[in-house]
Amino acid sequence: GVKIATIGGGSSYTPELMEGFIKRYAELPIREIWLVDIEAGKEKLEIVGAMAQRMWDASPYDVKVYMALDREEALKDADFVTTQFRVGLLEARIKDERIPAYYGMLGQETNGAGGMFKAFRTVPIILEIVEDMKRLCPDAWLINFANPSGMVTEAVVRYGKWDKVIGLCNVPVMATMVEPEMLGKSADELIYKFAGLNHFHWHKVADDHGKDITMEIVEKMYAGETGLPKNIHDIPFPRRLLEQMQMIPCGYHRYYYMEEEMLEHALEEYQTIGTRAQQVKKTEAELFELYKDPNLDHKPEQLGQHGGAYYSDAACESIASIYANKDTQLVVSTKNNGAVPDLPADCVVEVSAYIGGQGARNVAFGELPTAERGWLQVMKAMELLTIEAAVTGDYDTALQAFTINPMVRSGKTAQRMMDELFIAHKAHLPNF
Ligand code: NAD
Ligand code: G6P
Ligand code: MN
Repeated sequence: GVKIATIGGGSSYTPELMEGFIKRYAELPIREIWLVDIEAGKEKLEIVGAMAQRMWDASPYDVKVYMALDREEALKDADFVTTQFRVGLLEARIKDERIPAYYGMLGQETNGAGGMFKAFRTVPIILEIVEDMKRLCPDAWLINFANPSGMVTEAVVRYGKWDKVIGLCNVPVMATMVEPEMLGKSADELIYKFAGLNHFHWHKVADDHGKDITMEIVEKMYAGETGLPKNIHDIPFPRRLLEQMQMIPCGYHRYYYMEEEMLEHALEEYQTIGTRAQQVKKTEAELFELYKDPNLDHKPEQLGQHGGAYYSDAACESIASIYANKDTQLVVSTKNNGAVPDLPADCVVEVSAYIGGQGARNVAFGELPTAERGWLQVMKAMELLTIEAAVTGDYDTALQAFTINPMVRSGKTAQRMMDELFIAHKAHLPNF
């Protein structure tokens, strides 16, 4: 039987993960699941752990859910390690959003100054986990969901020297779910090609005769069907931009193509309903109230309010595909290996890939148009500098990352903002 270890097991997403495993039990016979958390997450872990066990007990399968504050015990001989932890909890995310806003900039969970500081906090922990895996479960695969997912995956490959890793995001899952519906087709009638970085990819779609139908989907998007995750405010992309591009940008490209509008909207929301982290705190509290109900033994609908809905489809399908060598096509963060020739072969990209026993075999995308190539190269440079700063604790490297990030208005204000973020997050930044 398979042993799964989930770091950040107290997450409200855990029932979603259980549902995905239950659905796939025939091809992925799990024996035990270890949910790992820290002292600060103990209460959440106990509630959601009991809920997870109830879900298995209500299924035909005999699976035991263990809860652990000791990561080593959980990792010992694991076959798959999934990561869904949040260093500093939602309190840290509120700071990532509020502090940039105070300086008139947009700090988002994975974008702008907020995303960079989330990387500073998360990268050291993922590298500790990788070191533990080398000792305790050297044959295991790491399936990462912790954000910023692309940068975290890059850190695992580049600094952890660990290639058995797949980085995940639900955004491509949602796109490939909703778009066939828009056209009244089933998913297997469409051919997808994604390329770029996590939260910074574009995609093209063809029909089953190979005819490009990307712009048919774009038309449907303008008619109001977008399939965006709940956390992204829906402002339509400028039409001329997409006509020129002939690709579909991911939802997060709004922060770059329409930074002004997105910032305006965010500042307005922060003053009324609060930052996204403050809104999520409420959703999370509601979810945990539901999870406490000893009669609840299935995933509640309210989990769909979370931006990361359908995450389990990506996570559980990747694991089942590796385990059973299924060669399913998914969109993952993985080493480029030439699929995106505009970026170095050894860096991590988010691309369409076939997932099997040896991990991801990427689908070649080919060169991007001039504008997108430029964006991509700047963004990858920003990611590499951010990760380097996270590992070395070097202030000037961090400042370079800030200066090159398109969502940071460079100059003295940016440096003041960065300094304030360093002070606010001091407890979770031992390297700096
Ligand atoms: P959360 O705040 O509920 O955190 C999950 C758990 O991690 C908490 O119980 C917390 O105590 C625990 N934790 C914190 N530090 C830890 C550590 N060092 N070791 C073990 N556990 C630790 O967060 P969430 O909303 O469930 O999100 C979890 C993560 O998933 C976040 O990083 C979030 O950004 C990410 N996420 C990713 C996607 C995606 O598309 N890739 C989508 C949604 C969320
Ligand atoms: C999805 C993304 C995640 C993101 C999350 C936020 O859009 O793919 O990577 O960070 O949702 O969701 P939340 O509900 O916590 O704002
Ligand atoms: Mn994501």
